[in-house]
Amino acid sequence: MCGIVGIVGQTPVAPLIVDALKRLEYRGYDSAGVATVEKGELSRRRAEGKLVNLERRLEAEPLSGTIGIGHTRWATHGVPNETNAHPHFADEVAIVHNGIIENFAELRDELKRDGYVFQSQTDTEVVAHLIARELRGGAQPTEAAHNALKRLQGAFALAIMFKGDDDLIIGARNGPPLAVGHGQGEMYLGSDAIALAPFTNSITYLEDGDWAVVRRNKVQIFDIDGNPVKRQRQRSVGTSYLVDKGNHRHFMEKEIHEQPEVISHTLAHYLDFTSGKTREMDLPFDFAKLDRIAISACGTAYLAGLIGKYWFERYARLPVDIDIASEFRYREMPLGKKSAALFVSQSGETADTLASLRYCRSEGVPIGAIVNVRESTIARESHVTFPTLAGPEIGVASTKAFTCQLSVLASLAVRAAAERGTIDEGEEKRLVRQLSEAPRFASQVLKLEEQIEKVARELAKVNHVLYLGRDTSYPLALEGALKLKEISYIHAEGYAAGELKHGPIALIDENMPVIVIAPHDRIFEKTVSNMQEVAARGGRIILITDEAGAARAGIETFETIVLPDTPEFIAPIVYALPVQLLAYYTAVQMGTDVDQPRNLAKSVTVE
Ligand code: F6R
Repeated sequence: MCGIVGIVGQTPVAPLIVDALKRLEYRGYDSAGVATVEKGELSRRRAEGKLVNLERRLEAEPLSGTIGIGHTRWATHGVPNETNAHPHFADEVAIVHNGIIENFAELRDELKRDGYVFQSQTDTEVVAHLIARELRGGAQPTEAAHNALKRLQGAFALAIMFKGDDDLIIGARNGPPLAVGHGQGEMYLGSDAIALAPFTNSITYLEDGDWAVVRRNKVQIFDIDGNPVKRQRQRSVGTSYLVDKGNHRHFMEKEIHEQPEVISHTLAHYLDFTSGKTREMDLPFDFAKLDRIAISACGTAYLAGLIGKYWFERYARLPVDIDIASEFRYREMPLGKKSAALFVSQSGETADTLASLRYCRSEGVPIGAIVNVRESTIARESHVTFPTLAGPEIGVASTKAFTCQLSVLASLAVRAAAERGTIDEGEEKRLVRQLSEAPRFASQVLKLEEQIEKVARELAKVNHVLYLGRDTSYPLALEGALKLKEISYIHAEGYAAGELKHGPIALIDENMPVIVIAPHDRIFEKTVSNMQEVAARGGRIILITDEAGAARAGIETFETIVLPDTPEFIAPIVYALPVQLLAYYTAVQMGTDVDQPRNLAKSVTVE
């Protein structure tokens, strides 16, 4: 989850490294650091907290080396302070690391017995000392690095630099992504191509077990046994955007507002609005012959998958097993010959989702990936990629990626239904038309911001919130609670409305706001009964519904947010917006760091 960069350049590299780290700050922002080789010596600047603190440090004490490595950290081992910030040094070695060295405790004990003294609490420092020990034993830098790599267990992307050599960085990958960028008389390493986009679009992705010897005029790649390997060089489509917030206070606000447009782009990729049908797809499986789909993902992406389950089962009569990827990867689920697996991920780098994908590949199952970053590892390792066209999502809390994931899942469900013959052409056209209306409904919801902000002012006063929903509104209730927790730090729970009386109803009193997501659909009356149960116990109800729902609820609510009258099929896409806005405005009211909430990172490349 940390971001790493390395540059073997012609001019002082520290400002370039900081520029690249800005594009990687989504991976972590607990601390940051840069090291360069200056006049043969290793020098570094590190700072706790966000990158801006490192920038200030470098302004006061610049670094002048033309080779350097940099890091932005999401803490795993050791608190986020300057001592634990990367780069870590040991004798002649400087290192930055993304991932977790699982056998670090055993290696640290071994190194301590050999007299090595540790400065930090990180797992990373063992790698630096391992290499230093090899160097002391007489190995050359590349040999020393290779020998050390062979001792490591776990997940890592590393960039290693050496005192006295201003033309060598060694990169290594096992798990988290690492890209080599090829320039003119300059070479680069980065956790993703976007970090390197201002410098080059000529990229080679390292594969697991690879390590690269990177010099100004040459890059050599080896496998873990030290054999030279060829990896394809590709043109990256990553843009050198330095994304800005436009007129918005936060990226999250901007991204919520982009939804009508990006949902529309995404849908247009899968649906032909002229014919009213889904577009042809080149698939590694035949929907008509499948007897099951396994979906797996994490966090918000998992909740998109959970809504997808309702759609695949309802419209295509195709059973779906849905799992949280961190559970799926160890569950050893049997997958039959008629199964396909779908993975949902904005970043395309989430470690648990990737591990689940690899499990399914090893079982010989055809793999589809719904991803926002098209060059990501998950995209590259799947048999078919279903892109979400959300554009870069910078706010740590996923918003537009979520509704675009829903747009893809809905389109796939219609396609599956058409291919399986569970809907006829007329029904396919009806569902496609309904989907085509989602961007318009989403725009209408954005007009309710003022009212939602008013409700948020009340939510900001409480410590606990309950979200309820049935059917596809149940995953949305979970999403609402997740969004509120992660950016406002208010404790929230999402429940299936029918489950309330099996326990959580004990929480209800006059201090407990209960947000009920209830479009006027087939089961609206059932949700009304659950609202009655809340009302009878003094709970304050905030109802998100439509005109018909507002008219028929027959309950005194604290506030009713009335959405446009939305077809049941696309309701989750449209109802996601008020849920996001409610969390956003509550967080603004609380004064939290909306785009970079504490303890989180945008891309979770450790388990
Ligand atoms: C919550 C959020 C996370 C991510 C999760 C998976 O707002 O953004 O729960 O959805 O970490 O990330 P991706 O989609 O990159 O696999």
